[in-house]
Amino acid sequence: MKVLGFMGSPRKGANCDILLEEFLAGAKSAGADIEKIYVYDLKINDCQGCYMNCFVDNSECPRWSGSDDMDNVHEKMKSSDLIVFSSPVYCGTPPSKVMALLERTIDQKAVNMETHAHLYNNMKEKRVVILQTNAYQGLKYQDLPLAVYKYILGEAWKMNIMDSFGVAGLKNAGDIKKCTEELKKAYDLAAKICSKIKS
Ligand SMILES: Cc1cc2nc3c(=O)[nH]c(=O)nc-3n(C[C@H](O)[C@H](O)[C@H](O)COP(=O)(O)O)c2cc1C
Repeated sequence: MKVLGFMGSPRKGANCDILLEEFLAGAKSAGADIEKIYVYDLKINDCQGCYMNCFVDNSECPRWSGSDDMDNVHEKMKSSDLIVFSSPVYCGTPPSKVMALLERTIDQKAVNMETHAHLYNNMKEKRVVILQTNAYQGLKYQDLPLAVYKYILGEAWKMNIMDSFGVAGLKNAGDIKKCTEELKKAYDLAAKICSKIKS
C-alpha cells in the first residue's frame, strides 16, 4: 500500500508539514509505504490554456510533457493507494502552486466536449484526503479552499474523498506543535483509513 503526501506550503517544517508528517506516520503504522513531495520544490510549468489535446485525447500535456516534473508526479499519483494534500489557506484559497499542480493534472482525463462524458480518467476513484491549516480563529476560513478541493478532486476527477481535516489559528511556523489532540487525530485518521484499505 502506497501513500503519497503533497506538502503544499512553501514553509518546510512548518504547520502543514508537521500535520502531514503526523498523518504519514499514522499511515506507516498501518503498514503503508509513504512518500512526501514538496509541491514548492517541483518544477511546474503553468497551464497555457491551449484547451485542446489534453482535454480530448489520452496524451499528457502536449505543450509541457517532458519539460517539467508533472509527468513524474502523475506516475506517482497513479501508483498510489491514497493521496493526501496538506496545504495552508492562502487568501481564502489553496496556495497558487497547489493550484498549478491541480490545473496541470487535468490531462489525466479526457472528455467528450459535446456531452462532457469522460473518455478515460486516471484519477477516478483514487482515494484522497485533504488536510488544511489557517491563521484566523475558526475552521470556517477553510470552507472555501475545501470547496475548491472538493470540486476539483471529487466532482471533476471523481476521486474518492475519504476525509478532510483542518487546524485553525496557526500563524507561526511551529504553532501546530501545541495542538497535540489534532495531531493525534491526523495520525489516527491515517491509521484508520490505511487499515481499511488493507483489509
Ligand atoms: C500569502 C498568505 C495568505 C494567507 N491567507 C490566509 C487566509 O486567507 N486566511 C487565514 O486564515 N490564514 C491565511 N494565511 C495564514 C496561513 O494559512 C497559516 O499561517 C498556515 O498555518 C501556514 O501554514 P504553514 O505554516 O504550513 O506555512 C495566509 C498566509 C500567507 C503567507
